[in-house]
Amino acid sequence: MRKVFITRKLPEEAVKGLREAFEVDMWESEDEVPPKKVLIEKAKTAHALWTNVADTVDRDVIEAGETLQVIANLAVGYNNVDMDAAKEHGIFVTNTPGVLTETTADLAFTLMLAAARQTGQAERFLREGKWTSWSPMGFTGMDIFGATLGIVGMGRIGEGVARRAAGFDMDVLYHNRTRKPEAESMFGFRYAELDALLGQSDFVVILTPLTDETRGMIGERELGLMKETAVLVNAARGGIVDEDALYDALKNGGIWAAGLDVFEGEPIGSDHKLLALPNVTALPHIGSASVKTRLAMMRMNAEDIEAVLSGRAPENRVV
Ligand code: NAP
Ligand code: GLV
Repeated sequence: MRKVFITRKLPEEAVKGLREAFEVDMWESEDEVPPKKVLIEKAKTAHALWTNVADTVDRDVIEAGETLQVIANLAVGYNNVDMDAAKEHGIFVTNTPGVLTETTADLAFTLMLAAARQTGQAERFLREGKWTSWSPMGFTGMDIFGATLGIVGMGRIGEGVARRAAGFDMDVLYHNRTRKPEAESMFGFRYAELDALLGQSDFVVILTPLTDETRGMIGERELGLMKETAVLVNAARGGIVDEDALYDALKNGGIWAAGLDVFEGEPIGSDHKLLALPNVTALPHIGSASVKTRLAMMRMNAEDIEAVLSGRAPENRVV
């Protein structure tokens, strides 16, 4: 019987279909990643690996997988999988595009609002019993309404954020490697080179994939181009923004605030230096975390595993 190894405990409703046709081996923890040694051991006899963003599916894992046919990643991003190794070994890699677009756009917008209006800090202040009177300039932040939004990575999620911005009467700039004439004419979004976008935007939202090209794309020079009153949101991947440069810019008043759902080395501990800054709003990589969306992502992965192990092509194939 063909085997599926799932690297995290998933809700039973998401795996019951696979159990009917295949031998399903599910890691017992919801929160802990199987150690690399375990992943390699499991890969040796699995026909499918069902992974997520916290798993490093590198060449060692892929080359151990002598019977491996498919790696289904519970995410739209797949920078945690060695694509070259998968390609060389004829293993499908599948992801979950589209179903998480609106939920992740909601979260990116939440981070814009929260960082600009310091809602995290204000709530902590209140919970700590520090609210003794109404303060004329207490927790005064930046206006979102009518501001200029710059989106770096105007794909599915980027467009979702841009559409939401229309309700806030924002002016939208975007930067991609390719222009989107339809979005420009339909919604009035304007294309800008990266430097121009950084210089003109009040809010910069990063939504590119993490690739060799985007790694470190926002560093000291780029942060230096931003307004001192600007807010940077990274809802894509850590590693696109240089964290040391970001720390310096936030600490020295180079930019005003940041909203971060992702970090270079996840999970971060409470001693991470960015968390020491009051102008950082930080979340533990929860972009797509709504019940409906996570279950829809799981359905997509399960259907693709079922397809490959039944000799059909998967719908959401990235390799
Ligand atoms: P998508 O539709 O493929 O959009 C990505 C956009 O980035 C494309 O428009 C692409 O346009 C642009 N891009 C790629 N390389 C670029 C470069 N070097 N310079 C400038 N722009 C570049 O993907 P999506 O579904 O919107 O997802 C985007 C990313 O969000 C994912 O890859 C993932 O890492 C992240 N994500 C995070 C969460 C979370 O929980 N925080 C949830 C979902 C997704 P061009 O190809 O024209 O450049
Ligand atoms: C989450 O980070 C994803 O890429 O879906």
